[in-house]
Amino acid sequence: MMAMPVDSVDLFDQGYALDPYPAMAALREHEPVKFDENTGLWLISRYEDVRTILLDPENFLPDNAIDAIGRFSVQTLRVLARVKFDLPQTLANNSSDSHAGYRRIMTKLFNAQAVNASVPMVEKVVAEALDDVEQRLAADGVCDLATTIARDVPFRVMLRLLGLESAIDVDIDTLARWSDASLELFWGRPRGEREVALAHEAAEFYAWLTDLVSKPAPEEGTLLGALAAHRLPDGEPLGVTQKAAVVYFMIIAGQMTTTQMLSTMYRRALLEPGLWQRFAAEPATVEPWTEEVLRRDPPITTWRRVTGRPMTLSGVDLPAGAPLLLMLSSTGSDTEVFENPEQICPYRANVRKHLSFGIGRHRCSGAELARMEADVVMRMTAERLPDLRFSAESSPEMLALLSFRAPLQVLVRRG
Ligand code: HEM
Repeated sequence: MMAMPVDSVDLFDQGYALDPYPAMAALREHEPVKFDENTGLWLISRYEDVRTILLDPENFLPDNAIDAIGRFSVQTLRVLARVKFDLPQTLANNSSDSHAGYRRIMTKLFNAQAVNASVPMVEKVVAEALDDVEQRLAADGVCDLATTIARDVPFRVMLRLLGLESAIDVDIDTLARWSDASLELFWGRPRGEREVALAHEAAEFYAWLTDLVSKPAPEEGTLLGALAAHRLPDGEPLGVTQKAAVVYFMIIAGQMTTTQMLSTMYRRALLEPGLWQRFAAEPATVEPWTEEVLRRDPPITTWRRVTGRPMTLSGVDLPAGAPLLLMLSSTGSDTEVFENPEQICPYRANVRKHLSFGIGRHRCSGAELARMEADVVMRMTAERLPDLRFSAESSPEMLALLSFRAPLQVLVRRG
């Protein structure tokens, strides 16, 4: 079916977050490389263009990957400056020669073998979270999976892998509040007092992190231990700013994304007739289905790059320094690559071809961890609560940030 051209897309709009597919199809068909006046970014919507960019980090630099989108007010800048808030080049935003070293830390901690070894720990964390869900259901008759198990499991797993579990002096509610605020501050469109309030939360988070990474390193085999032992290409150890930047990024990009993925999965699985019971009876079906949800509804909907020199994409000339918004969610619905993209089809031949974890030098280091968490969480929830059903009282509202999209609430009941 032909898509109608679109004049402009409001990437922060709730309507777009609820149903972004027609606008993305129109962009792919009519203007696959389109300058967006609202954000000052070039929207890149076709699978092949996005793949080409991700595989060419010399010409399409990742330096702007985690920059704030808009310009902050002076008051916001002051709040951030007070804690010396700084995110220097470490992982996702690093085009320098120090990237490979940081990347090795991640590969060591989150490779397939390490992820397999942490399955029993994750199962234990999920079992505890399910106890909580069951208690809430028994007490109130209803439970929001988005703000309980989908949020708590990735946090607890990440804290364990960071080596923070016992040392932690703040609760998960506080960490989640800080993380949500950071996400909205950097990837949202807050204004005025809201922006300043979010900056206070982000600053408090950053100050807590700098304090944390300044303490003696915990045991080996944890992120903090690895950061303490790490040396930069010039032989220097990491400073507090670099360590804080890594941990900040890991909590935002590693933990929040997994929470969003789980919320999306719960919602979709419970709304699809018969699927939840199938998960309970045939847990092996969860894994390929997860890939399809990641393709169609990725938690990270867009990611940024900047051209290192003049480049041409889909016939459009771009100057050097052009900031690009790679529409990962659009690539997963590109009919040139995925037939009938609207269908969640776990047995499609190219089920792992999606770009939702990126590809190339900066490909997500936590992809296997995220996949494993998804598998354990869905499998165990369906086994233990096969009579769970999605409740129509659930708000349809979505998290609608430039790069993140997920249901904000997934209310469920039993029976
Ligand atoms: C469903 C959950 C997740 C999704 C969809 C996701 C997606 C992504 C994407 C799109 C990128 C950017 C890729 C690029 O620039 O080419 C990325 C980078 C990254 N992710 Fe994830 N991620 C998820 C979970 C995680 C987890 C659990 C961890 C932590 C273990 C993690 C760690 C990282 C790191 C370290 C990078 C930067 C890699 C580099 O620049 O070398 N992610 N992720």
